[in-house]
Amino acid sequence: QYHSIKGFRASFLDTIADPFYAPEADCIRYFPDGLLIVENGKVKDLGNYQELQAKYADIPITEYRDRLIVSGFIDTHIHFPQTEMIASYGEQLLEWLSTYTFPTERKFADRNYALEIASIFLNELLRNGTTTALVFTAVFPQSTDAFFEEAQRRNLRMIAGKVMMDRNAPEFLRDTALSSYLETKQLIEKWHKCDRLLYAVTPRFALTSTTEQLTNIGKLLQEFPDVYLHTHLSENVKEVEAVVAEFPESDGYLDVYDRAGLVTERSVFAHGVQLTDREFTRLSEAKSAIAFCPTSNLFLGSGLFKLGKAKSLETPIKVGLGTDVGAGTSFSILKTASAAYQVAQLRSQKLSAFQALFLATLGGARALCLEDKLGNFEIGKEADFVVLNLRSTPIMALRNQSSEAIAPTLAEISDQLFATIIMGDDRAIAATYIMGELAHEA
Ligand code: GUN
Ligand code: ZN
Repeated sequence: QYHSIKGFRASFLDTIADPFYAPEADCIRYFPDGLLIVENGKVKDLGNYQELQAKYADIPITEYRDRLIVSGFIDTHIHFPQTEMIASYGEQLLEWLSTYTFPTERKFADRNYALEIASIFLNELLRNGTTTALVFTAVFPQSTDAFFEEAQRRNLRMIAGKVMMDRNAPEFLRDTALSSYLETKQLIEKWHKCDRLLYAVTPRFALTSTTEQLTNIGKLLQEFPDVYLHTHLSENVKEVEAVVAEFPESDGYLDVYDRAGLVTERSVFAHGVQLTDREFTRLSEAKSAIAFCPTSNLFLGSGLFKLGKAKSLETPIKVGLGTDVGAGTSFSILKTASAAYQVAQLRSQKLSAFQALFLATLGGARALCLEDKLGNFEIGKEADFVVLNLRSTPIMALRNQSSEAIAPTLAEISDQLFATIIMGDDRAIAATYIMGELAHEA
């Protein structure tokens, strides 16, 4: 491999600790006029331009004047086969699945169709500044292959897996306890740790798996201890009632997964809107993560996630943001964070701009056990980052005007970042870089 070193001059903002648990000033780094040095795709240095410039006098510098660079956004729960059915009218979870989701996911038996949509999906993530995601594919292994192939072509750090479901779904979408075990094993051997790709064992949710399938999934996690477990949990009231009815021996929804050995440090559960206090405690103990998917929870009428409970000191749980497209209504992590703020408001809680940035970056990295590689600009981490334009529309230019060209204080950048989260969308993403290489430009 040839050697590459380059610099970026802009404002830089990142989170280095969790602002839910420590004073914000201790959690945030802000360089109004900063210099980021990227060597072979990884962060080599970050600091004030004036201080660092002399040390790197001879390397090529890309200048982003009046732009704010943050770490790439991390989407901890999304479905690539649901791209085309985003914003489907009128139903809550269980009816929404049978009316819209299952017929759409059937199309992903066709490998070429899956490749086509995977390409659109990944381009859409990059347009929105999302550089890493934890992704449901469809039940068909060829849909998982298609996704990983397109992600590999773009050199992305992506985690995905084949959906496993052997009951309560149409025949054309069902696997079996044995076939899902064998196919998943093959996919893990093919894709896990291949370039930047990682595998998540992906039962759809408790209702679509037999106990036999869940037991096999537990076996897979034993055989491959560094793959992820990714599923849905306690999203909708009727869903929880159905799970309790289907698994009478279990002590609630989470316990169905727990009995099969699926509640681990590398487990990511989407939603958790209906969790009981006991389940919060168990997730905290097990160091599992929750993907908070506010646009989806509002769109499907599922409810208001208890972010304050999940981030409490008594039962701290790793939390990331998830768009959950196609039940989520946007690919944008900015819009997802805006919805998270509004869900918090409805629970009389606050979500500050820096807390939201944490959830979108370092918090997501922690939820995905990737803190050593992603989430901020610490030296040695992978240089996936987003160039934000805080003045991308006339109204945002009015809202985010500064006394100087660049907001000089932490208070001012917090205020402008907040407005960008609340009003922003893909237009605020000026560029997206993957391992220091330009991957999208507005
Ligand atoms: N629960 C089971 N499957 C799904 C899905 O595809 N989307 C959401 N939001 N919840 C689910
Ligand atoms: Zn989902």
